[in-house]
Amino acid sequence: MTVLSLVGARPQIIKEAVLNKEFQKAGIKEILVHSGQHYDYNMSDVFFKVLDIRQPDYNLNVGSGTHAEMTARIMIEFEKVLVKEKPDIVLVYGDTNTTLAGSLVGAKLKIPVAHVEAGLRQKPKDMPEEINRIVTDHVSSLLFCPSQLAVENLKKEGIIQGVHFVGDVMYELFLKMKPYFTYELIEQLGLKENSYIVCTIHRDFNTDVKESLETIFKELSEIAREMKVVFPIHPRTRKKITEFGLYDYARNLTLIDPVDYLAMMGLVEKSLCVITDSGGLQKEAYWCEKRAIVVMPDTGWRELIECGWNRLTEPGKIRETLNELLKSGNIDYPRNVYGEGDSSQRIVKELNNPCY
Ligand code: UD1
Repeated sequence: MTVLSLVGARPQIIKEAVLNKEFQKAGIKEILVHSGQHYDYNMSDVFFKVLDIRQPDYNLNVGSGTHAEMTARIMIEFEKVLVKEKPDIVLVYGDTNTTLAGSLVGAKLKIPVAHVEAGLRQKPKDMPEEINRIVTDHVSSLLFCPSQLAVENLKKEGIIQGVHFVGDVMYELFLKMKPYFTYELIEQLGLKENSYIVCTIHRDFNTDVKESLETIFKELSEIAREMKVVFPIHPRTRKKITEFGLYDYARNLTLIDPVDYLAMMGLVEKSLCVITDSGGLQKEAYWCEKRAIVVMPDTGWRELIECGWNRLTEPGKIRETLNELLKSGNIDYPRNVYGEGDSSQRIVKELNNPCY
């Protein structure tokens, strides 16, 4: 069997890391394609390096553009690869434009599409990632769900066949990589354990409207007067704070370039808590037993909100939510929300089972 995996953005490269190894173990031939959606060294190559992923067989080099430009360019180039390679399965990850492009091309060429991280749903319905998830799930033959909630979400949309709860591949990676987390950055930045916040913001609804981004940075700047706020800044956010002239608010923050996975996990593990709009980081904070404030109207990782571990908030209420969270003290750590850390084995088992 030949599986053709498509990655393109930072979180997909991270998810590929565990499957890559499992395919090798199981003797499954994998062709790896990188769309080139993320192309900066610290958004892409560094993850191949620290997670020991072999170089892609193809790089489509699509770069940036509008949603339509990016999706269309990936589709055109990806189709050529699929026609040439004729894999048995196309594997896509998550919710990016790369995911959408890959699943559409695979489905139209009648090659079964397997979606890792299927079934997540969140408001607002018009956010690009939500559109990408819905379309991808509806054209996929195999849907690998990280949570029981994701299975339920698919059921509500009439998708039952090919749905498998496998747990979260990112949890598996977290467990495997834990012994290798790095802590040099903490020392370099002069941080003390449990006394700084790790923050990331990059969603379009937070970054692309000046008022929202300005409110967020104003609040972070106020928080940073009391406690260090370390902010590995995503290229989209950097671009926007330059465009909107918000660097004054950023002065109090410890702004750094995006960091690799092992350094990021080291940072989170020793932090007090996390403020983020990243899907991955909400869960990684939880696995590090740190709580997160999620700057989003909703999240696909709702289990962590319902049990009170993480909290949703909005621009203008970040400080208030942080105070509430810090005052709420210790709460019981919710266990095993996203499986047992054996997702890659479960996925390989289903791929080997020719029922799709
Ligand atoms: C994408 C995903 C999002 C995921 C995120 C992780 C979509 C719709 N969104 O968002 O689900 O959480 O990746 O990072 O696919 N840029 C660079 N260098 C890079 C990559 C991007 O400068 O290496 C710039 C681009 O010029 C672009 C901006 O950052 O203007 C945003 O990149 P894009 O890939 O459109 O979306 P992300 O915000 O990264």
